[in-house]
Amino acid sequence: MVCAPATRSDVTAAHDARVVVTGVAGFIGSNLADRLLSAGYDVVGIDDLSQGVREQVPAGVAFHQADIRSPAIYPLFHGAHAVFHLAAKNCISDCQLDPVATASVNVAGTVNVFEAARRAGVTRVIHAESSALYEGVSELPSTEARIAAQSFYAVSKLAAREFAQAYERFHGLRLTALRYFCVYGPRQDYRRTIPPVMSAFALKLLRGERPTIYGDGTKRRDFVHVDDVNDFHLLCLQDERTVGGTYNIGSGRDHSVREIYDLVRELVGSDLEPEYRPDLPGEAERTCADVTAARALGWEPRVPLREGLRGMIEYVRDHVLLAETLPLP
Ligand SMILES: NC(=O)c1ccc[n+]([C@@H]2O[C@H](COP(=O)([O-])OP(=O)(O)OC[C@H]3O[C@@H](n4cnc5c(N)ncnc54)[C@H](O)[C@@H]3O)[C@@H](O)[C@H]2O)c1
Repeated sequence: MVCAPATRSDVTAAHDARVVVTGVAGFIGSNLADRLLSAGYDVVGIDDLSQGVREQVPAGVAFHQADIRSPAIYPLFHGAHAVFHLAAKNCISDCQLDPVATASVNVAGTVNVFEAARRAGVTRVIHAESSALYEGVSELPSTEARIAAQSFYAVSKLAAREFAQAYERFHGLRLTALRYFCVYGPRQDYRRTIPPVMSAFALKLLRGERPTIYGDGTKRRDFVHVDDVNDFHLLCLQDERTVGGTYNIGSGRDHSVREIYDLVRELVGSDLEPEYRPDLPGEAERTCADVTAARALGWEPRVPLREGLRGMIEYVRDHVLLAETLPLP
């Protein structure tokens, strides 16, 4: 069994502190909210439910359905100790089709979140960047030092980073930028036009359908479990050394898409072969994180791939498939 986010017991003492999480109804945000609540934080959650799901927001979160681009979010930041800004339009292929919406949410929306923090006097902001910033860099593993955004999604994250740094310069925001690699785990979004490979493979195989591999399956990705990501999130709240830093959050290992397919298939107990379709535009051939900087703070990715995948498959079986078979109310 994979560790459920809320049951990790290695967090330090409960705080009497309020934390804002944008994108709280999404994959990482909902798992983070679980961890924060179990560590004793009050969580104010914001999401417009454009991609996220209300039922995914943990009980105990003060949830507000709101668009991060709206001034309506300003009052929600009052009295907060820190902000995790995760809300974004983040399916690369959707972003390629709609650069205007991508810029609106990921750039203007992000600036509005920084503005909300500034107006409320909240200085601590942890900002979700992405390994997509390394798309045009050929040297691997990727260190934080060199970036080359190519796709509209990556460019939107780069523009947001520039605004983050301007808020740091002019308004004293105490920022930490996190470059997640391929995060996986329970509640991973399977509803996107092109879902992330692991949840897409698990869902199709469990239904007895043939999953799709875009390209020939040789693309390689660094996969990191959401529990490990949340370990670093908690560290950000507890360790002042993270202020002003940019960190790769990956496992430091890469696996081909076909390797992942074979592993998911084995764990599901299926013998179905995938369907191959033409490659998707804007996707890197290989991602692999250099996690030296994060490790130097004592963080370590701990969830083994097989164990993490098993937990994710159980989640898909117990929550997603079960919901599909229940009669509509
Ligand atoms: N999951 C990954 O592997 C990964 C990798 C790199 C970076 N990231 C970044 O991490 C963050 C979280 O990713 P995730 O996988 O949880 O994504 P997700 O799509 O599951 O969650 C994002 C949430 O943001 C919400 N949202 C979108 N637009 C909004 C708006 N205008 N106002 C309010 N809420 C809005 C969506 O409804 C959704 O619930 C994103 O910023 C993403 O770019 C994720």
